Amino acid sequence: MRLAGKSALITGAARGIGRAFAEAYVREGATVAIGDINVEAAEKTAAGIGPRAYAVKLDVTDQGSIDGAVKAVEEKAGGIDILVNNAALFDMAPIVEITRASYDKLFAVNFSGTLFTLQAVARSMIARGKGGKIINMASQAGRRGEALVAIYCATKAAVISLTQSAGLDLIKHRINVNAIAPGVVDGEHWEGVDALFAKYEHRPKGEKKRLVGEAVPYGRMGTAEDLTGMAVFLASAESDYVVAQTYNVDGGNWMS
Ligand SMILES: NC(=O)c1ccc[n+]([C@@H]2O[C@H](COP(=O)([O-])OP(=O)(O)OC[C@H]3O[C@@H](n4cnc5c(N)ncnc54)[C@H](O)[C@@H]3O)[C@@H](O)[C@H]2O)c1
Repeated sequence: MRLAGKSALITGAARGIGRAFAEAYVREGATVAIGDINVEAAEKTAAGIGPRAYAVKLDVTDQGSIDGAVKAVEEKAGGIDILVNNAALFDMAPIVEITRASYDKLFAVNFSGTLFTLQAVARSMIARGKGGKIINMASQAGRRGEALVAIYCATKAAVISLTQSAGLDLIKHRINVNAIAPGVVDGEHWEGVDALFAKYEHRPKGEKKRLVGEAVPYGRMGTAEDLTGMAVFLASAESDYVVAQTYNVDGGNWMS
């Protein structure tokens, strides 16, 4: 019960990693807002987790929606102690085939969405005067470029940079900003990634996923649950002196 009585907002928590974090936070005693653009899925997820989870409609590319979600959590839970900026989209293409539409969409969700949700929640935390914990979802993709993944990699590098700047700026308010950089995590997200690699690398479906899993030093792809220990640590008082860091939780993938 390391998060007893805490109020959390997790963006993009209707499925995947965000959902696993919501389950872990509820197990640790928190009340969790499942923020997602897909509100029907968010409602189903919240109902599946139990009475300390509830759905909030949230499109992180829309300032009105961000402000509305923050207000909804303030009204429901009395404030926000923990924010996880988890919502993101993936796309890929060779450099000469990248479109402005893909660029705009990925930066709008993965970077602007993270920045302006962080800003709105930081304002709320500062006004409340109790500090807080903000966790951004980065990626190994933010640590280095990949031939076919330029835009997604750039959005995640930007998230790592923002984590450093916001971490340094907000710690005077006792708001810790840190990030988690997963490697390859199995789930619905990777079904889409695998399909794109199949297209651009002319592979049978499922082959890329198998190969990336085999290449992880730990011996398999990650699961969303593999990340929950770090997510709970960064949301808890145990990480009070941890500022502006991005932690790899990737079975050794980045190091290899
Ligand atoms: N799965 C991986 O291998 C992996 C690896 C490294 C980093 N990550 C990062 O971890 C995070 C979660 O990944 P995942 O695999 O669970 O993704 P996912 O695709 O399974 O889930 C993303 C969720 O975000 C929601 N969403 C999309 N656009 C939104 C918007 N505009 N506003 C609000 N919600 C929106 C979706 O509806 C979905 O529920 C992401 O930031 C991702 O980049 C994932």
